[in-house]
Amino acid sequence: MIPGFDFSQIQTPFYLYDLDLLEQTATLAAREASRYGYFVHYAIKANHEPVVLEVLKRAGFGIDCVSGNEVNAALDYGFPANAIAFAGVGKTDAEIRFALENDIFSLNCESLEELEVIAELASKAGKQARVALRVNPGIDAKTHHHITTGLNENKFGIPLEQLKAALDFCQATSHIQFIGLHFHIGSQITSPDPFIRLCEKASEIWEAYDISAYGGRVLNLGGGLGIHYEDPAANPVPDFASFFRLVANHLEIPREVKVHFELGRSLVGQCGSLVTKVLYVKKGQQKQFVITDAGMTELLRPALYQAVHKIENPGSENPIQPYDVVGPICESSDIFAKEVMLPKTSRGDMLFIRSCGAYAQSMSLRYNLRSSAPAYFFRQKEFFSNLSNQPELSIPVFV
Ligand code: LLP
Repeated sequence: MIPGFDFSQIQTPFYLYDLDLLEQTATLAAREASRYGYFVHYAIKANHEPVVLEVLKRAGFGIDCVSGNEVNAALDYGFPANAIAFAGVGKTDAEIRFALENDIFSLNCESLEELEVIAELASKAGKQARVALRVNPGIDAKTHHHITTGLNENKFGIPLEQLKAALDFCQATSHIQFIGLHFHIGSQITSPDPFIRLCEKASEIWEAYDISAYGGRVLNLGGGLGIHYEDPAANPVPDFASFFRLVANHLEIPREVKVHFELGRSLVGQCGSLVTKVLYVKKGQQKQFVITDAGMTELLRPALYQAVHKIENPGSENPIQPYDVVGPICESSDIFAKEVMLPKTSRGDMLFIRSCGAYAQSMSLRYNLRSSAPAYFFRQKEFFSNLSNQPELSIPVFV
């Protein structure tokens, strides 16, 4: 997969990141967004490896967070506080206080109940909280039901019928500075329709509720742009040009409103692979199991969302045959792929599970007391690991 590198001496499993591809993706996204004056916050939940963050920081992105520790990590790694957005339905008092102390760009508030707490904590801190109201627009993102967030049945966002009350509360409360609206309808969205509906709905709400009159000047449309899991080699970089053009063509909001995005997967998804060694090829009654040393602890997505990740065995040749590729974890759902066609696979082969840059390492688990898999990075002739020389994160404990 990477000519010139011999992986056989490296302890598996590990995450492997192509920094050239990451840089290319980030540069393209930044360029296409800037055509329209859009601002992108990188959704740090997708991947918080310091090396990855450094590339994204250099591309000029802000950060989108969903926990106090993420806010802290973003600050630690040098992202400016005024480029950090913080969403989440269950922010603790300590997390809200931390955001206030650090004067972040926006607390994306998800309920009237939270709004009251933000006001109270801001008042106690003698601060004015910058708040964007996250609205649940009732739009079906047409993605896996576990990563759909914009339906009325989902816990996210303020129901539309409470928006007026929330706006009035902001207006009446001196410790809240209302800056605009926030939406995020879901993740891994691969058709343009949900984004078109989002743009139409956001424009409609902006006008109907006269958001500008309340001081609104930011419209944050969240993330969700999908990647091509089935064929990453042919589709290494998402079509950012079409995505931002579509938004520009369907938004009808006052010119002075600044449009923000929170892209996660589309920026980092394709640059990473999970590299794992085959421990056994086991003959079952009806199938052959390839048992790898990586499991759902290193890549949870197939078990949690029935996600499909392309699996490659570059060291082997034909004949192609069907295998179930499974991990070593004591769970029946620890399956990477069923009936996947691979060249003849044997003990000791290295498999590359592709499109693991987003929501793989960041969702890894210690279940079964597994060790954390390290990350390695390459660009052209350089190859290095996260095991050495990485600055330590100082993570405060939020209770
Ligand atoms: N903004 C907010 C408020 C979010 O909740 C998310 C993702 C994003 C932005 C970034 O979305 P993206 O551009 O990455 O689609 N673990 C799941 C994905 C969960 C996404 C959670 N929220 C997966 O592996 O598919």
